[in-house]
Amino acid sequence: MPISLSGRSFLKLLDFGPDEIQYLIDLARGFKDLKRTGTPHRYLAGKNIVLLFEKTSTRTRCAFEVAAMDLGMGVTYLDPGSSQMGMKESIEDTARVLGRMYDGIEYRGFGQDIVEDLAVNAGVPVWNGLTTEFHPTQMIADMLTVHENFPQGIRGLKLVFLGDARNNVANSLMVACAKLGLHFVACGPNQQMPEDELVRQCREIASDTGGTITLSEDIDASCVDAHVVYTDIWLSMGEDDELWAERIRLLEPYRVTERVMSMAHPSGIFLHCLPSFHDTKTTIGAQVAEKFGLGEMEVEDAVFESKQSRVFDQAENRMHTIKAVMYATLS
Ligand code: CP
Ligand code: NVA
Repeated sequence: MPISLSGRSFLKLLDFGPDEIQYLIDLARGFKDLKRTGTPHRYLAGKNIVLLFEKTSTRTRCAFEVAAMDLGMGVTYLDPGSSQMGMKESIEDTARVLGRMYDGIEYRGFGQDIVEDLAVNAGVPVWNGLTTEFHPTQMIADMLTVHENFPQGIRGLKLVFLGDARNNVANSLMVACAKLGLHFVACGPNQQMPEDELVRQCREIASDTGGTITLSEDIDASCVDAHVVYTDIWLSMGEDDELWAERIRLLEPYRVTERVMSMAHPSGIFLHCLPSFHDTKTTIGAQVAEKFGLGEMEVEDAVFESKQSRVFDQAENRMHTIKAVMYATLS
């Protein structure tokens, strides 16, 4: 049976089979070639989408906007400051209104239950642009980037996530690795590990795909021979600034350093969803440096800027992969 995702929402990878996820990666690769060769692909001309952002964004917003325009679609961006959303109208009512006008809705915000609820009520495909629990569009870009660096196949590769292993990106990576048969290691302090129930679900999925899920506090054992070392910021959007001190105390030992990368596989790469605090050139980075004496947080600048780093390929791939997600669900 040929794969069709027509009319489906894209809320979390748990809802998709390995072949469907691989289909999106392959589709994105095709779109990347079309973009590179300047081949027009206005396949969804005449359609319109709306982007609902309750949290800030650079990559996800721009990826949706450029991808939609390349596909010939119109795009509207809404945030709580420039619409009735949140203050005067519930997200659910907003979605029901927008579902009458638009062909697809992207949502970035808080609980996963919100985006699930939107999808039930909108009557058009809804795409999760990041919730507290999951960041599924990021995963298609990340797995495309891994494919590009390991063209012989990604099954059986070891991907280590260092740091806040209970956040949306870590949760989603664990699911992505389980679905696609990679060996996922969450490496961080026990307090910041993924929820037991999600670990259980992922282990069950991995038992069918040949992947494994390991939780470990041991950096050396985790990072040895890693094909991919991945990290994310230590305090996610929506978390209380008061938590910085504790997070720094817990996660500083789990920073991605040159020493960590030297233990990785000789072809090992470094990934980060971005934005990153790898120096003090941001307001928060400078504040943390002043208050806690820490000039680099989750990753050393030397690693971020190293030959092993693929973070900007990964960022570019957000656009090609989001294009694939929209095309697959709207066509
Ligand atoms: N990685 C990512 O989602 O980046 P933005 O927050 O800039 O969208
Ligand atoms: N964990 C981060 C990801 C940002 C893309 C956050 O939620 O802020």
